[in-house]
Amino acid sequence: RSKVPQRDLELEETPMELGGEQGRWEEERLKTASLSFGAKKEREQGMRKEQEKYQLILEEEEMIDFVSTDQEAPALSQAELKKQSMQEVRRSLPIFPYREDLLAAIQEHQILVIEGETGSGKTTQIPQYLLEDGYTKGGMKIGCTQPRRVAAMSVAARVAQEMSVKLGNEVGYSIRFEDCTSERTVLKYMTDGMLLREFLTEPDLASYSVIIIDEAHERTLHTDILFGLIKDIARFRPDLKVLVASATLDTERFSCFFDDAPVFRIPGRRFPVDIFYTKAPEADYLEACVVSVLQIHVTQSPGDVLVFLTGQEEIEACCELLQERCRRLGSKIAELLVLPIYANLPSDMQAKIFNPTPPGARKVVVATNIAETSLTIDGIIYVIDPGFCKQKSYNARTGMESLIVTPCSRASANQRAGRAGRVAAGKCFRLYTAWAFKHEMEETTVPEIQRTNLGNVVLLLKSLGINDLIHFDFMDPPPHETLVLALEQLYALGALNHLGELTKLDLINIFIITCDKYKCSEEVLTIAAMLSVNNSIFYRPKDKVVHADNARMNFVVPGGDHLVLLNVYTQWLESGFSTQWCYENFIQFRSMRRARDVRDQLEGLMDRIEVEVVSSQGDNVPIRKAVTAGYFYHTARLSKGGYKTVKHQQTVYVHPNSSLFEEQPRWLIYHELVFTTKEFMRQVIEIDSGWLLEVAPHYYKSKELEDSSSKKMPRKQGKTKEELG
Ligand code: CDP
Ligand code: MG
Repeated sequence: RSKVPQRDLELEETPMELGGEQGRWEEERLKTASLSFGAKKEREQGMRKEQEKYQLILEEEEMIDFVSTDQEAPALSQAELKKQSMQEVRRSLPIFPYREDLLAAIQEHQILVIEGETGSGKTTQIPQYLLEDGYTKGGMKIGCTQPRRVAAMSVAARVAQEMSVKLGNEVGYSIRFEDCTSERTVLKYMTDGMLLREFLTEPDLASYSVIIIDEAHERTLHTDILFGLIKDIARFRPDLKVLVASATLDTERFSCFFDDAPVFRIPGRRFPVDIFYTKAPEADYLEACVVSVLQIHVTQSPGDVLVFLTGQEEIEACCELLQERCRRLGSKIAELLVLPIYANLPSDMQAKIFNPTPPGARKVVVATNIAETSLTIDGIIYVIDPGFCKQKSYNARTGMESLIVTPCSRASANQRAGRAGRVAAGKCFRLYTAWAFKHEMEETTVPEIQRTNLGNVVLLLKSLGINDLIHFDFMDPPPHETLVLALEQLYALGALNHLGELTKLDLINIFIITCDKYKCSEEVLTIAAMLSVNNSIFYRPKDKVVHADNARMNFVVPGGDHLVLLNVYTQWLESGFSTQWCYENFIQFRSMRRARDVRDQLEGLMDRIEVEVVSSQGDNVPIRKAVTAGYFYHTARLSKGGYKTVKHQQTVYVHPNSSLFEEQPRWLIYHELVFTTKEFMRQVIEIDSGWLLEVAPHYYKSKELEDSSSKKMPRKQGKTKEELG
């Protein structure tokens, strides 16, 4: 074998795709010496004394040593950040000089791939350009999909503001369970999932003149399916324009998939961003984030901070820690505005992240990766990136889907860093080592379709009459075994007949339909609705943990978490859907309201399919049987040290938040699995193994369900079905 010359480690490699007019990513020159970042800069500003004092204040917190690159960030001119009028802002976006060329290219080609740096104006401007160019004549609509609900809402609100119209009139959005559009709506932002649903009622999307599949690089499951469907309808609707918009990633693949559609590139404006790595891995990245934010706050020149965390819980914890430490430091430090952003945050709180930072203060936005490419917050100069994200992963062999915190990809890390260089030169602090970046992170994120349970997708495609899924035009086909498993499960559920044809529509619908038999549809409706918003029902603020836990305990009823959820809802209903009641019982009002909306919708559905709404009158056996009927393939049996799933013998555990955590009954149905420290079952309900043969005789053999006495594991005061007689 011939030897490949080794490159000098870390010295010459430019870690990311470069581009842009004024700035590019600087080549990294990693210095061996480490320093507390920023020292040189402050000397220039004659502020060093002051800063040293602040550093002393922080000394009790462990300072983090970052390895620095050589570049200095010029101070950010306040003038650059000052508020301009909307139209001026619109004209100042990188996309604006390309307006005419872009419209001409759209005119000329049916399908166009548009690539542009995040924040260049693709999402907010292109639909407006199209509208101004007459694409909505005759009431035709322009649709723009977003993978995330928050992005769809916030972008629509922004565009409505730019056009000085009321949100929901000419500009609207549509996300699951919330339709903010009207007859007049011509610019419609929606989640990719909602556009998929529209195919059900309008398979050729006849009311649209343009479809923009935005954030295509995210490669969500729904976006990937849309690719196949839209490519298909574009063939028989030559008048339909299709735009595939993406951050600067993977655009060649999109072009290739859409029969070599041309790529329109919007040159970005990107200022240099210095990347700093930690010298050693961080044991606790949450704590490291908090320390880094404070370090930046006291040692760095003005500019806002963006922190990437993986989810609501982490974000709330981080915000609380920051606020608490700021309180402790009091007037010794300048004002620090701490703002969270994640999907379940109330929309008025979400809007706050866009408010300009008052002079003298600094803003810290603590976000999920929604801020990676979907949302652009002006004024960010510093990015803190722990290098993690929450990802769905799927094991086709066991049929398990779990949400896992995993290292993000290098592509993600580079997008995150890029957020620091939009308005001026910036800095990105990576809470991992340069070595980890190179050797431990994947190059790109695996498309969701490769790591998900395809049950709902199969149902949707089938309900669109697409029966031959093996030959569906997927950009990256899902693994064959995943597809086969999904078909098997749906067949077992009775959703597909022996020809693989659809018999019923949606998993939760199936759950409801199956419950018809057990005369408890009233309760099952509520449970289904509550499950659809699960995990955000109980409110547990850090400073009132004991009160919150007591309040939660008060809702516990025998049988399992589904019944607890039912109990919460029933009591809330009896309170007259009271906000005060929620407040007193540590229940999230917003989630409850959503559950009520979902419930209303489901009730409408029951009406349409003529399922009678009846109550089991306080008997919980029919309810538990109905859950068993809907989720029989989610069965787990008590075994040594934990539980084992019945079909695949995978070891799983009851989640500590569950009402059955102590009790550990012999047989359980779980609603979902989450992987945190181990594989936990969330929302579990106790069942009788005999019911499994009753509801799914085609799926279980009685032998599989025998309780062998050697496996008996009496725990605590837990009573099993057997003992109960
Ligand atoms: O889609 P792309 O990433 O190319 O950019 P965009 O989302 O259209 O954002 C263009 C500009 O609008 C950015 O400067 C954002 O800061 C601004 N914007 C905003 O101020 N408020 C929003 N809710 C959305 C965008
Ligand atoms: Mg965008």
